[in-house]
Amino acid sequence: MKAEAFDYLVVGSGLAGLTFAIRASEHGRVAVLTKASITDSNTSWAQGGIAAAVGESDDWQLHEEDTLQAGGGVCDPAAVRKLVQEAPGAIEWLRSQGARFDSFLGREAGHSRNRIVHHADRTGWEIERAVSGAVRANPNIIVYENAFVTKLLLSDGRVCGLTSQIGEAGLRAFSARAVLLATGGAGKIYARTTNPRIATADGIGLAERVGATIRDMEFMQFHPTVLYHPQIGGFLITEALRGAGATLRNHRGQRFMYDYDPRLELAPRDVVARAIEAEIKHLATWCVYLDATHLDPDGLREEFPTIWSHLRAGGIEMEKEWIPVTPAQHYSCGGVETDLDGRSSVPGLYASGEVASSGVHGANRLASNSLLEAIVFSTAAAEAVRQEPQSDFEDVDYSQPKNVPENEAIRLRHALQNCMSQNLGVFRSNLGIAQADAFVSRLLAEHAELPTAPFSAYASEAYNLLVAARYVVQGARSRKTNVGLHYNADLVTLSRETEVEPAGPA
Ligand code: SIN
Repeated sequence: MKAEAFDYLVVGSGLAGLTFAIRASEHGRVAVLTKASITDSNTSWAQGGIAAAVGESDDWQLHEEDTLQAGGGVCDPAAVRKLVQEAPGAIEWLRSQGARFDSFLGREAGHSRNRIVHHADRTGWEIERAVSGAVRANPNIIVYENAFVTKLLLSDGRVCGLTSQIGEAGLRAFSARAVLLATGGAGKIYARTTNPRIATADGIGLAERVGATIRDMEFMQFHPTVLYHPQIGGFLITEALRGAGATLRNHRGQRFMYDYDPRLELAPRDVVARAIEAEIKHLATWCVYLDATHLDPDGLREEFPTIWSHLRAGGIEMEKEWIPVTPAQHYSCGGVETDLDGRSSVPGLYASGEVASSGVHGANRLASNSLLEAIVFSTAAAEAVRQEPQSDFEDVDYSQPKNVPENEAIRLRHALQNCMSQNLGVFRSNLGIAQADAFVSRLLAEHAELPTAPFSAYASEAYNLLVAARYVVQGARSRKTNVGLHYNADLVTLSRETEVEPAGPA
């Protein structure tokens, strides 16, 4: 059967995918394939904002310094320079697509200046609204929703198309000069994550099957302050709230960050997440608390309307009560290795956004650098793909990768999530990593032996999650020093030597 021909194919419809689509549509026909609806993306859920040195007392060198410092010496300096130098232009481009931002800059951990361009606490939603609107109005872009990409197609070692299961239409094939993966994160390999349900590492699974290089997956970022509530799972409490002055307290009411880092609540995310986990362990409690009760209630309601209303729905009045929080999985810093133009190691295959590892995050992503990365590297990729040769690929072998029965996929997922949460969280150990290694290998072997079943996106995701988890485990196993987000307690003893009374207000 014939493949439908486009110039460029995009898998995923968050900011990375849609930026690429808009830019590439200036010189070619683009198809965006997204497995749910166009706005179902990690981008839509982003609260904080986009970092850019646009303030009066700021410049790109300071943004660069902060990014490199958070990255723990593992960043690619050239990628970081590109990111920070192009940040102000990225904001202008978003405005040109119709995105609206507040008139003041927010502050987040690890930043030496106020530089977070935002739209209250629903920046991602505002950006997705603007760019998805621009995409829908663009005659050179076709969007396929409910389109689950099952396989990348290779011809003479080049990626030249893909197959996708599209809603009621069934399995279809597409050819193109280049394919961009923009599938977002891998949060669903963990039981507790801030990611939406679509974050099932699909790009990692697709890239692995064509032999692309995948790196640094052990650098899994845990956001320090995720709501701990029996009915509301994985709801992020933006770091911008700490930037606005909210403080962290333990079960005794002590501001424990005094015991861990002089930057207190605005230390980088890895530091704060470890401090919280250590405090929870030390006091044998379930959570710590975020205290915003000293902040102006009207200001809270105006600046953090999403958080305000979610907490209200859960029975918490943030202007009067402390918010129970714990760390939860938030962002994959590693991914498909790319160069400065978003090229992977396989010709014809590009990647951008959370699925990619462009080198800007190193061992720990600086807050609000992710939406920025998506724009900067998708813009570069959209220019670079012009050089890709025309695809002469027409006829496709429609073989479908293996699908397992849904009930087995549920079992595999839950087993994986428990194992990863227990062993590959904020703190790791030699034993935990080794056990996870054996367990994930066993699950992959079980997956291979299961009977084949009719297509189900949910079941197909199971394989992608297992593959991504294997990269996390193997990365953790081979990394022999603690850096950034990788913290193996057997490599060093955590110091909280004495029971220190808080120096700040209790
Ligand atoms: C947040 O709002 O705290 C998250 C922002 C980010 O992950 O960069």
